[in-house]
Amino acid sequence: MKYLLIILLTFFVQQVQSQIGFGDKAITPRIKFGLDKIAEVQKELKLKKNPKLNFDIVNGKAEGFSIFIKNGITNIVGNDETGFLYACMEYAAQMRKAKGYPKTINIKDAPEMVLRGQCIGLQKPTYLPGRTVYEYPYTPETFPWFYDKKLWLQVLDSMVNNRMNSLYLWNGHPFASLVKLPDYPFAVEVDDATFKRNEDIYNFITTEADKRGIWVIQMFYNIIVSKPFAEHYNIKTQERERGITPLLADYTQKSIEAFVAKYPNVGLMVCLGEAMQGVGQDDIEWFTKTIIPGVKAGLKKINKTTEPPIVLRAHDTDAPSVMDAALPLYKNLYTEAKFNGEALTYATPRGDWKKLHNKLSDLGSVHIANVHLMSNLEPFRYGSPKFIQECVIGMVDSLKAKALHLYPQASYWDWPYSADSVAGGKRLLQIERDWIWYKAWARYAWKPKRNRTEEVKYWTNELANYYGCDAKTGKSILDAYETSGEVAPKLLRRFGITDGNRQTLTLGMLMTQLINPYRYGLFTLLYDAEAPVGESLVEYVEKEIKKEKHIGETPFPLLEQLSDSSSKAAFLMDSLFKKISRNKDEFVRFRSDMFTYWNLASLYRVKIMAATYVLKYKYTNDLRYLDIAKRLQQQSVSSYKSLVSITTKTYLYANSMQTQQRKIPMRGFNGAYKHWKEMLPVYEKELEIFTKRIDSLKNVTISSTNNVPVKLNETSVNLKNKVVLLNTNVEIFSDTSLKITSIAPQLKGLLGLELAFKNMLTNKTNIVFSNDDSLKVLVGYFNNPVAAFSTDTIFLKQPTLEINAAADDYGQAEAKILNALVIQGLPPINVHTYNFKPGNNTLKLEKGVCLILGFVKDTELIKVVDAKLAEGKYKNIDWLFE
Ligand code: SER
Repeated sequence: MKYLLIILLTFFVQQVQSQIGFGDKAITPRIKFGLDKIAEVQKELKLKKNPKLNFDIVNGKAEGFSIFIKNGITNIVGNDETGFLYACMEYAAQMRKAKGYPKTINIKDAPEMVLRGQCIGLQKPTYLPGRTVYEYPYTPETFPWFYDKKLWLQVLDSMVNNRMNSLYLWNGHPFASLVKLPDYPFAVEVDDATFKRNEDIYNFITTEADKRGIWVIQMFYNIIVSKPFAEHYNIKTQERERGITPLLADYTQKSIEAFVAKYPNVGLMVCLGEAMQGVGQDDIEWFTKTIIPGVKAGLKKINKTTEPPIVLRAHDTDAPSVMDAALPLYKNLYTEAKFNGEALTYATPRGDWKKLHNKLSDLGSVHIANVHLMSNLEPFRYGSPKFIQECVIGMVDSLKAKALHLYPQASYWDWPYSADSVAGGKRLLQIERDWIWYKAWARYAWKPKRNRTEEVKYWTNELANYYGCDAKTGKSILDAYETSGEVAPKLLRRFGITDGNRQTLTLGMLMTQLINPYRYGLFTLLYDAEAPVGESLVEYVEKEIKKEKHIGETPFPLLEQLSDSSSKAAFLMDSLFKKISRNKDEFVRFRSDMFTYWNLASLYRVKIMAATYVLKYKYTNDLRYLDIAKRLQQQSVSSYKSLVSITTKTYLYANSMQTQQRKIPMRGFNGAYKHWKEMLPVYEKELEIFTKRIDSLKNVTISSTNNVPVKLNETSVNLKNKVVLLNTNVEIFSDTSLKITSIAPQLKGLLGLELAFKNMLTNKTNIVFSNDDSLKVLVGYFNNPVAAFSTDTIFLKQPTLEINAAADDYGQAEAKILNALVIQGLPPINVHTYNFKPGNNTLKLEKGVCLILGFVKDTELIKVVDAKLAEGKYKNIDWLFE
């Protein structure tokens, strides 16, 4: 390293003498970037030249550095180029602080997490016309910000200031915007001018990132092909049930080959799921026979041997098995799994989720914890250093992760803007609004275990600087961040339906979602793995009724604590405005968010109290409980009105994903129900119906409105499969003697299909039929919930939007008849329906056992019903609200 030392010294001396750039080839852009940071401060402070500085690069822990004074010489030493860059930046910061060259300095530092990354989605809140999920070509019309070099520099600078070293770009199928394939010239999906601009900006981003020690990684989903490619072959751009075909494999492999040959310094992040059935053999085959060979072919083409990194996402795939097969073939592999699903709920995930992370960490390759979408935090400000620190410690200690992949705090689908509604239509940049989010995660990824007292001092100081206020005020702001930082995580993990972006917590929840979460596809992993041991509302009330002992985190102390502490924090902020001298507008928005958090906590508190009384009524038939519930529900509507009045002024939307994938509290189709003001009429209606139902219950002495359901209207179809008249005692599979033991009256007499149990275990099910009228196919799914990432080796998995954004393309996501049929010894059946238009159709299902229970008119099964045939059945009282 001595030669480098000499070069550096020479150039540093030149720099000090001339204060102008270096320009020598021997100094890499990253080293120059670091030295320039020192030069900037020298210029700023008009410092005398020729200080006794010594620069060096020595071997040591990756990205580490030291700065120390020995024999009157200040040594600025990096363990590698990035460490050198960080050393220079740290020294520059110390110079600024000391307003000159520091007289004493002794710093030795190195990161604990080896990859500290953040991501940007080349995605949008809604679909592009004629396209489906994740399909967004790189064009100036769709992503004007992508071509904004100034913005890129701001983003990259903020990253290097936080010592973040990886940047992930997320997209469905980026290749057709970035490479041209001789064998498939028609596949490219941008015009020539755009293609050139894409090359230019991609080179710019990667070059500027590299200067700052940042590694760019391009993410893509599988299997997606470009729109023109799909049109050329008359196939769909993505079809989960299609499986691998030689054409898809060849096209994808060549796309990857061309990409690697063109951008060998860009890593790849691979999602073997959503657009393909990840779990099974296909994921292994696709990764080892298409993707890895594509990367290798790209390297060969340019005679390179340095393997670019490939990150395997453990999303909708059996990542441990894929890694077992892939590690012998490719060395530079990483794994990545979500930290808390698509939300932020709990610092130390447990159960199956922890097991998955541990399995991947134990492979010996670097395992990355992905703080994915924060669906429960959207759209308000979040910046609790305490919770964030606990999370990073959880990642390292409990999950054994060695790296972080951080999503934006909110508005991921709307990058680069936040959802704030600001005077004059101005949009705020996430990178500016959410500075504390990025800074806190980066700080703890660098070093998770830091003394809490010191941390309080550090953040107090940061906030006092940001707002130009005294330390006491800074500390109060920190307290407000930390108090409000508990609201959304705790509400979701105790009362939510899912950790996925299927739910927007801050829009509230319907009463039926609180009292009967199972109907909405309760994602149990949220409670079993992403929350501490405790009780859901339904469990809590059941225990109360049975007078059983409560365990762990329970609804009520939690709700009281959240609304009390958030109200204190909000009111304290109200009194602090006069102390703020910098970023006053932002303080006003922050203060408003604190009031919103308080409102949210109070809303949930009162609505959940109402739900508790409704559930008590369920067990006792005591109408007095409903009267209490009504009064509480009235309060919840008033509370919602305050939320509407604040947010109408402050926010454009609650959630940045505005597609039909969102279901809770209301379906987000075509951007609907994205703002509180749209939800208010829904909650008012809910109260109105409840009031009417209570009145009729009081007037009619019968306490149940359960009607005896009539048989569904069948419709005729042409098909080859053997049919079976559905009834009790009927054998429904062709190759087993399993019998239907109970069946919902509306299904009795329908013609189901006799399918082979064993065949479904290993093969996908395709039912080919033709029909003259629109219809619904009834598909019986065994209600055997398994974790999103795990393999159910027997039953067909219920459509799961958490892992497959196309899981509602036929209207199949929600169960239409719950607990509709029981086969002895097997889990109860929920019926989902698939809509088909007239014509020749194929119902395509993945591997796994299911039932096809007939074909009915498409006007049937509009509403969800519970046939209550399951064991341990609960009385259904959803009708009180709808
Ligand atoms: N659910 C999608 C995924 O996990 C989008 O975030 O990839």
